[in-house]
This record gives sequence, C-alpha cells and structure tokens, in this order.
Amino acid sequence: MTSNIKIAPSILSADFANLGQEIAAITTAGADYIHVDVMDGHFVPNITIGPDVVKALRGYSDKIFDVHLMISPVDPYIESFANAGADIITIHAEATPHFHRSLQFIKSLGKKAGISLNPATPPCMIEHVMDMVDLVLVMSVNPGFGGQKFIASSLDKISTIRKMIEKQGRHIDLQVDGGINMDTAQSAIDAGANVLVAGTATFVGGPDKYAENIKALRGK
Ligand code: DX5
Ligand code: ZN
Repeated sequence: MTSNIKIAPSILSADFANLGQEIAAITTAGADYIHVDVMDGHFVPNITIGPDVVKALRGYSDKIFDVHLMISPVDPYIESFANAGADIITIHAEATPHFHRSLQFIKSLGKKAGISLNPATPPCMIEHVMDMVDLVLVMSVNPGFGGQKFIASSLDKISTIRKMIEKQGRHIDLQVDGGINMDTAQSAIDAGANVLVAGTATFVGGPDKYAENIKALRGK
C-alpha cells in the first residue's frame, strides 16, 4: 500500500539562488512530482514565483510539474502556467467563486486539474466538482509559508475526502500539504493521502540528504 505513496517536494524550501540544480537534484533523489508554490501577496501573505520561472525550470526535470496556485484572481493566469509546462494545475476553492469554471478551463487546456482546501474549508465545498478533478489538495497548514506545524484536524478531512474519492470510482490523487515530516507523514497516509508535499523535510540537510529524506517520507 505505502509503495503507492508519491512524494512531491515543495521547491519553496529549495535554494532559490540555485533552483535549476535543486530540481535536478530532487529528481535524481526520487521525487515523484515537483511541487511549485505560487503566491501572490493577496490570497496569501507571501510572494513567490510566476510562470516565467516555471518555464525556465521545466527543462531541469522530466517529472510531473505540480503547480499549486495560491493566487486570486486565478483565471487570468491559468493559461500562462499551462504554457510554462505545468502538468497539474491546482487552484483554491476559496480563491474564486467560480472554481467550476476555472477547473473546466484547466481541463480544456489538456492539463490535470486540482482543487485545494484551506484548513477551515469543509470538504462539502468540492462535492459538486469531484467528477472533474484529478487531484484534491488538503492544506494542513494555512498557506503562505513553509516550515509550519501540521494541523491535526486535517486528518479527518483527508479521511472524508478519501471516501468521496472512492465514490467516484476512478483515480484521483489525494494530496496533503504543510507540516509533513517523519512524524506526521504516516498519519496522513493512514488517513488516506497518497501524495505528500514536503518542503522543509525534503530539503533539510542539503543535496546529499535528499534521497534519504524522500525515502523516509515515503514510509515502509
Ligand atoms: C504552503 C505551501 C507548502 C509549503 C510546505 O503554503 O503550499 O507547499 O511549502 O512546506 P513545509 O513542508 O515546510 O510545511
Ligand atoms: Zn503547496
């Protein structure tokens, strides 16, 4: 069961002066997805990177680029991230009143569509878009920064969404993001997550440790 667990290192914790090499290093170390956190200083209180940086980084890995958009509005930027080489584009249910439309747009561009929920947002928010998503992202911290503490109530939400996914009868990734480390990873897996995002816990110790860190997160 745990062999199906995918690890998505968040490059938010990488050396930003050396991002291309960092992405190549985590690819060699066994990352499944490259998790790219896009923040706008409006939807979340931090600013990171835009589509031109994603495009520049695309050539450093053949892994799935999993782009987590923490931006509002989101619609005007979806196509730029698709063109930059995103494979999965995840938007926040709280970032737009029309996320059904945004998800349709992502799918129309031939990309996988993800929907994310902040810690205070209930699973029922996404009940009526479950038929169109490829990934559900449960935020286990309030988005904006790496290195925060895992919010334990996320586990119940993961279990609930795992049941919603089972009802769909097709594969949908269930991703958890925030505060995932050697102590919290297994509980997220047990609750039903199959993709673990990890920034701090992947990049701690520098490139020599990446393979060991990723292996430890994946579980037994
Ligand atoms: C937070 C981001 C996360 C973050 C995770 O807003 O979406 O991807 O980088 O960082 P850690 O693993 O350090 O909690
Ligand atoms: Zn993220």
